[in-house]
Amino acid sequence: MSVIGTGYVGLTTGLLFAYLGNKVIFVDIDRQKIEKLKNRVIPFYEPYIEEMLNLVYSNLEFSTEYKEAIEKADIIFICVGTPPDKDGKPDLTGLTAAAKEIGRYLNGKFKVIVNKSTVPVGGGNWVESVIKTNLNDKCRSNQGHNFVVASNPEFLREGSALYDAFYPERIVIGADNNRAFEVLLELFRPIMNQSFNPPPFLPRPNGLSAVPIITTNLVSAELIKYASNAFLATKISFINEIANLCEKVGADIKEIAKGIGLDSRIGSKFLNAGVGWGGSCFGKDTAALVEMGKEYGLEMHIIEAVRKVNYLQRKRIIEKLYEKLKIVKGKTIGILGLAFKPNTDDLRDSPAIDIIRTLLERGAHLKVHDPVALDNFRSMYSSLNVVVNEDVYQMVEDCDALILVTDWDEYKELDWEKVKNIMAGNLIVDGRNALDEEQLSKLNFKYVGVGR
Ligand code: UDX
Repeated sequence: MSVIGTGYVGLTTGLLFAYLGNKVIFVDIDRQKIEKLKNRVIPFYEPYIEEMLNLVYSNLEFSTEYKEAIEKADIIFICVGTPPDKDGKPDLTGLTAAAKEIGRYLNGKFKVIVNKSTVPVGGGNWVESVIKTNLNDKCRSNQGHNFVVASNPEFLREGSALYDAFYPERIVIGADNNRAFEVLLELFRPIMNQSFNPPPFLPRPNGLSAVPIITTNLVSAELIKYASNAFLATKISFINEIANLCEKVGADIKEIAKGIGLDSRIGSKFLNAGVGWGGSCFGKDTAALVEMGKEYGLEMHIIEAVRKVNYLQRKRIIEKLYEKLKIVKGKTIGILGLAFKPNTDDLRDSPAIDIIRTLLERGAHLKVHDPVALDNFRSMYSSLNVVVNEDVYQMVEDCDALILVTDWDEYKELDWEKVKNIMAGNLIVDGRNALDEEQLSKLNFKYVGVGR
């Protein structure tokens, strides 16, 4: 099989199937990335990817050339990025390029082309038409018979990408042709039945013996992906809105989340109030849904509100700082965490970046720390006038206040007595409700959480 695109989704998918015994050719137009991977260097931070690559290396090939990868494969996964354009619509440049190349190198042998990239509803049909209009002469006469397009949306979370690939809560396959289902059900069988020996570093969770599979048409599979992400984003914006009310009436959002989450119809996950969601998916997919709605003359009221609440929440954190410090200009503020969530170095749509920008505009001096995202921060945001500290204790030194933006375990385990002694002030704004309020209050910190 071949996998086009070696980001989180592509690499994880390819490594999963290589582990299950398939020969996998990775294709990427980024020469540097391919060179790195050939040399077993992972271009981003993601737990266990390196271990897995080493484990299955003999089943892998890496290339910048489409020709051989497409000719040899019977299944081709398209895993290229679809970042938002300036209007919030997914940019399909990478997808189009991949589809054109597939059309160019199809060779008459039946192939299933699987879209794993998040494409707008109707994207699969569109990939099919791009392939058909770019078919090489050899395949033109056989048009439509030597390939089918399917959708297999990806639900992996950054930070636990491989775990989610081996132990998904469901597998969704969308296609308008039975041959696609036959091929893909066979491919996914070991995951569906959990009939593989787990990798040493990824033990199977207790009680998991089978994974449900949903087979549906192309557009439904595509919409399942968007609806999932939008629903998760909705849960977080919902709890954040209730958290803001908690602050007014004197309630505690952690108790509210517990109290509603025990209702199995609601569920306890994704009810942590804080600075709100970020990352490469929720912002992009909710924006795309709003745009998709517009194209069909629909206003997506709930999703628009979810977005609005989320981006306002980043401002709420700054208001909290103002409420306690009164004046921010000239004060030194330390930012604990830059990544949009722990266990990743990904800074896409990270709340930390917005918070930093606003505080700089208001004249604060900023110091920042993150356990793994500092290199990315330096290369992407070199224009921001902040002090970057590799050492967290050096960062907190002389700060008037700290804002915890990313709930890395490392921050929960800090020596807070030491922090208290080296800080200039004593204000902690806990943007994730991650720290121990009682412990911090005993040490004479002024602790401010979210919704409490
Ligand atoms: C998400 C989806 O979970 C995944 O299924 C999809 O494939 C891609 O998008 P990811 O972006 O990796 O995954 O992160 P996720 O763990 O879902 O967290 C998203 C954001 O929500 C993070 O910024 C996180 O800090 C925030 N979050 C999450 C909350 O603020 N509160 C919560 O209760 C949960």
